[in-house]
Amino acid sequence: MEIFLDTANIEEIRKGVDWGIVDGVTTNPTLVSKENAIFEERIKEICEVVQGPVSAEVVSTKYEGMVKEAEALAKLSEFVVVKIPLIPDGIKAIKTLSKKGIQTNATLVFSPLQALLAAKAGATYVSPFIGRMDDIGNTGMTIVGEIMEIFDNYGYNTKVIVASVRHPQHVLEAGLIGAHVVTMPFDVLEKMFKHPMTDIGLERFLQDWKKYQDYMANKK
Ligand code: E4P
Repeated sequence: MEIFLDTANIEEIRKGVDWGIVDGVTTNPTLVSKENAIFEERIKEICEVVQGPVSAEVVSTKYEGMVKEAEALAKLSEFVVVKIPLIPDGIKAIKTLSKKGIQTNATLVFSPLQALLAAKAGATYVSPFIGRMDDIGNTGMTIVGEIMEIFDNYGYNTKVIVASVRHPQHVLEAGLIGAHVVTMPFDVLEKMFKHPMTDIGLERFLQDWKKYQDYMANKK
């Protein structure tokens, strides 16, 4: 599984990359707006730190505007993946960008059929928003399995990014389904390390080692 961080916060990204387990980053206008940074500069900075796919989103809703923004974003770094919303103009833009060799991430995906359209247009990634579906009483993860099955049936290369992740259970479920990528907030990644039995076990090992060292010291 590839692990992406869903944040525009550079400290969080540095920490995750330093652990050696972060493959990429996804951002969106909401996440960038929290950072009080200049958008293009922050995307460049993230790309330098991650050295892997970094999604940056367009804000135009019309085909021409999306393609123009996408071309400018792609010039920032070879690692930029342009995030495009799943609307008809977005699908048309994905098709054009894929022909130009610009990587894309179809975002705001809430159904397997939307994902199918993105794959047909040549999207590099498709991002089903699991948590937001759970929020309205659906089981978001169901569509991840359906998307994987459809892509497998037709041999699409588009990778599935499980997005809008709220807790480690989402990561576990995505892993059991075999989703290619999970993008998660930093706190979810931190929680994945944690288990009380690990802390208890480590404390006991260290106490016993201390006892052993005291015993050996007294023996001399
Ligand atoms: C995905 O790429 C989005 O940035 C993100 O996962 C949205 O998540 P949210 O529902 O927590 O805003």
